[in-house]
Amino acid sequence: AAGGLVALSFAGCGLVAPGPVDTVGEVDFETPLAIPPLAESHVDAEGTRVFALEAQAGTTEFAPGVASETWGFDGGYLGPTLVADRGERVRVDLTNSLDEATTVHWHGMHLPAAMDGGPHQMIAPGGSFAPEWIVDQPAATLWYHPHPHGETESHVAKGLAGMFLLHDDAERSLGLPEEYGVDDIPVIVQDAGFSAEGVREDTQRGYAGGLGDELLVNGTRGPYLDISTELVRLRLLNASPARTYAFAWSDGRPVELIGTDGGLLEASVALDQVRLSPGERAEVLLRVAPGERVVLQSRMTAEIAGLEPVVASMNGGVDAFDVLEVRAGDELAPAASVPARLATIEDFDPAEVVTTRTFELGDSFEINGEAMDMDRIDETVTVDTLERWVVENSNAVPHSFHVHDVQFRIATIDGAAPPPELAGWKDTIFAEPETSYELLMRFDDYADPSTPYMYHCHLLWHEDQGMMGQFAVVEPGQRATMSEGPHHEH
Ligand code: C2O
Ligand code: CU
Repeated sequence: AAGGLVALSFAGCGLVAPGPVDTVGEVDFETPLAIPPLAESHVDAEGTRVFALEAQAGTTEFAPGVASETWGFDGGYLGPTLVADRGERVRVDLTNSLDEATTVHWHGMHLPAAMDGGPHQMIAPGGSFAPEWIVDQPAATLWYHPHPHGETESHVAKGLAGMFLLHDDAERSLGLPEEYGVDDIPVIVQDAGFSAEGVREDTQRGYAGGLGDELLVNGTRGPYLDISTELVRLRLLNASPARTYAFAWSDGRPVELIGTDGGLLEASVALDQVRLSPGERAEVLLRVAPGERVVLQSRMTAEIAGLEPVVASMNGGVDAFDVLEVRAGDELAPAASVPARLATIEDFDPAEVVTTRTFELGDSFEINGEAMDMDRIDETVTVDTLERWVVENSNAVPHSFHVHDVQFRIATIDGAAPPPELAGWKDTIFAEPETSYELLMRFDDYADPSTPYMYHCHLLWHEDQGMMGQFAVVEPGQRATMSEGPHHEH
């Protein structure tokens, strides 16, 4: 039945399914891993930490001496890493030097809808926008990327993405590795297609969206990472438009997972692999011996993807990639011991749920039977209340589900408690076919009846096709009203 449905969908879209990919053993790790620079900032007279980012067109040499046309923030590809502490007021002075409008969305951040950088906060070519908010959430690995309605996949795939790391006192007191670029390493994974000469090309398209047959980490092809410490923290971000990964170590050692989208887990979990769909993050620890080499791979199977093999092969499943070779030096700085308890995550009390909503991920890129309409508020949420969102993927193909503004908890998956790796703070989930997810989330702060937040499938092509809806957070009894007129375009 699954095969038939998918064939139908493909006929409708005129797509050809890309074949499975296997690059294991074929990647020469010849290029040092690029580490995105830390974004510079200053604290102004009012105590606001001020960053600046410029979206620009440029070129990138994915192969030495061979230029590809790309986009980046403050450079040719990707963007600098922003770092802030819980409690800080931050502002980012954004400039758009591209010749088309874009936005910058702060994925995973709790902030006012008018600062969120969704499709209502477009920045015209030559324009600027200066979102400002107070960081008020646990230490986490967040990221930023454009969100122009209908163009998100192309803007992200051209290179507009970066990390936004949050720290807090509780996390700092754990003694986790936190020396950026030394033992605290951003790992931004994207798939891409290249010509024989090494020029970046359009990817093949499957039902999930664009699927490249090679990987880039932080924009580096065939990367290796020299390590000088016994213990390393890797912040994995799947910034690919469509492909889902199952990250594992080449020698079969367990993946030591310490954090998910919105912060640290209560305790680390040892896993065979960490599955990340587009937009999801994982913090993992790696312990190395002097001189050791180990390769981060992605080894996706239909079973890990929760898919029928035929579906998996069309969605970036059933494939194997070499991702990144880690090379430990001959002398390593000793690691502090990591406490067993990493965080305290208070459970939401289901008895406090005020509203339950259902989101059916249907065929034809609709949610609850409707495609995204920029002028329609789909859901109105009362501020400071707990809600239960039931996400049902009734398709034979996978989707994902991302909610702006909040970090949520997965209460159940098909009625059962989530596995430990999905029990912490999440803002994006991979939605397996014919599976139901019950999410609990609190919509604290920032009531604004006239500016919506988004929820959507984070397979970026699906999102662009309209698999997205809008919710407004309002004061009790208030009605949502869309604002008219220009949105920050100047
Ligand atoms: Cu990562 Cu609505 O986006
Ligand atoms: Cu989808």
